[in-house]
Amino acid sequence: MTNHDLQNLIELAFSTAERAYTPYSNYKVGATLRTPDGTVFSGCNVENAAYPACICAERTALVKAVSEGHQQFDVIVVATRNGGSPCGMCRQMLYEFSPTMRVVCVDEQRNIVIDSTLDKLLPHGFNSLG
Ligand code: THU
Repeated sequence: MTNHDLQNLIELAFSTAERAYTPYSNYKVGATLRTPDGTVFSGCNVENAAYPACICAERTALVKAVSEGHQQFDVIVVATRNGGSPCGMCRQMLYEFSPTMRVVCVDEQRNIVIDSTLDKLLPHGFNSLG
């Protein structure tokens, strides 16, 4: 993936974050997920008055992708005001499909705060093979 591709994923993640529904936390998150063939899915967090029903941006992007027939991913970009990283539940959901995917977390100044891989963020993660 070129730097230009990465910049496009970053800007798409931020524009998607603008659509986040966050009346409770006011913490907007956008995520872009790219497959090896270059197909991109984006997602934002969607909150609910019943707090546990909230869904994170990363899982929004993931379920959109899987629903459209994509199960392999080479990178996820997460855009927030402070470069926050995926929560544990999102790490686990992503790990199911592509445990070695690159994870890039970016803050609102476009600083790359984390550039790592999922298996580093979730060491010894559980998968269906045990
Ligand atoms: N959130 C995400 O969208 N992704 C994460 O990985 C961490 C948390 C959302 C959930 C909630 O809407 C808000 O951020 C505050 O936790």
